[in-house]
Amino acid sequence: MKFEVCIPIAAPTLEKAIYELKEAEKYVDLIELRVDYISNIDKNKLKKLLESKKKKAIVTCRPKSLCGNFEGSEEARINLLKKAVEFNADFIDIEIEAGKEKILELIKNKKNSKVIVSHHNSSETSPLAELQKKYEEIKKLSPDLIKIVANANSINDNFTIFDLLKGKKCLISFCMGIRGQISRILAPKYGSMLTFASLSEGKESASGQISIDEMKNVYNISMINEDTNVLGVMGEFAENSMSKYMHNPSFNAKKLNFVYIPFKVKGNELGDFINNFKKFNFKGASVTVPHKVAIINYIDSIDETAKQIGAVNTIVNDKNKLAGYNTDYYGAAEALKEKTSLKGKRALVIGAGGASRAIIYALKKEKSHITIINRTNENAKELAGEFDVQYGKFENKKQLIKENEIIINATSVGMKPNVNESIINENELTEGKVLMDIVYEPSETKLIKIARKKKCIAITGGRMLFYQATGQYKLWARQEPDFKLMEKSLLEQIRKE
Ligand code: ATR
Repeated sequence: MKFEVCIPIAAPTLEKAIYELKEAEKYVDLIELRVDYISNIDKNKLKKLLESKKKKAIVTCRPKSLCGNFEGSEEARINLLKKAVEFNADFIDIEIEAGKEKILELIKNKKNSKVIVSHHNSSETSPLAELQKKYEEIKKLSPDLIKIVANANSINDNFTIFDLLKGKKCLISFCMGIRGQISRILAPKYGSMLTFASLSEGKESASGQISIDEMKNVYNISMINEDTNVLGVMGEFAENSMSKYMHNPSFNAKKLNFVYIPFKVKGNELGDFINNFKKFNFKGASVTVPHKVAIINYIDSIDETAKQIGAVNTIVNDKNKLAGYNTDYYGAAEALKEKTSLKGKRALVIGAGGASRAIIYALKKEKSHITIINRTNENAKELAGEFDVQYGKFENKKQLIKENEIIINATSVGMKPNVNESIINENELTEGKVLMDIVYEPSETKLIKIARKKKCIAITGGRMLFYQATGQYKLWARQEPDFKLMEKSLLEQIRKE
């Protein structure tokens, strides 16, 4: 059997299930029919459902006790599976918890159907030795396929599953939950026979399921194989990152066997994640909140620019040595240079965090005259000292805006969900300034709207995001990206959000 993406159907009525089955068959060759969700499911409804299929189907009927929805007796449940065999289901799924006797009876009478014996742990991912034991226990029953699914409480749980999959031919295994998504996407790389994708957002039959649209159109799941190079964005809220919409289309257009995925890594998981990253030979990553500074402790080398900025936003794995770079400064410089020259210009940077550091570095390199202000004046003073530039008092913001030609918001003010906030009021901004906001969600922040109203030259955070991403792409792929495609895909996505 070759790797397949399977869409589960968990509709509440037979009619809806048939409708969704037909929809799902437009995308994939294998559908899981979660008959436990169909109200009053019986053999007649099951027969109708299976008669409606044009492609292969798995019939699954999970009991309430195992996170399913079937409320009838165990006998009725097993009888439905027997009927599914009679009605030519391609696969039936039975949980190991159903007991050896019942499973062996189903296997003995499976006719043309194949039997998947499954085990789900919806609370955690057990250690590898325990999962291996469960695998051996199921294997003794000689089913056609074995399915072991765990819940990821940490991104690092996914690597336990990758270890479990090693060298096994008939295993379906991945992690559930938002932290388990990388194992769903990388299933074809690490040898899981199946991965599940929802028909659309909101139609998930288990937590963490990614929609078929995203699996196909963002991650190009059909192109992922054991040789695929893995890249991604490492951050506590990596799932919100826009970068996957830029990198993946360009990799695809350039026929590079790379996939770029979100790595949802919490602060205290970084060390273990980096160990796994190296062990599994992931090729590189974008680094974002809150790891841009902490990552420096885990890499093997840091390039001079990143060192001076004091933050790393890109890592490259070269023969198992991790090198750190910073492309944020490049992103800021390119975004600004689209609209203005920088040499000799007076620039006011608002904010004194990591983003400000990259921007100040860029402006210094381009020979602008820089003043920093920050809500906490002390932080502005310290940063200005470090970079040998001027600082001002936050209270003098209005006056300083007047005195500078370029104004940059390098704070997170105005970022979703606080879309009604702006670091600068309408009455503080005067006509003709170049104003850049680093916030890119929403694309038109309140500050950008104020800038447009005041006839300033507005530069959205999306521009900086785009350029820093092109810098990362070059570091990983060692070639130019498809700039137009990256830009177009980002804009399309921003418009959708
Ligand atoms: P990043 O690394 O993304 O720049 P950060 O290091 O947390 O993030 O920095 C956030 C910056 O935004 C800081 O300059 C912060 O000001 P303080 O030093 O006073 O904390 C600034 N900031 C955050 N929220 C703010 C707000 N509501 N008003 C003004 N400045 C704010």
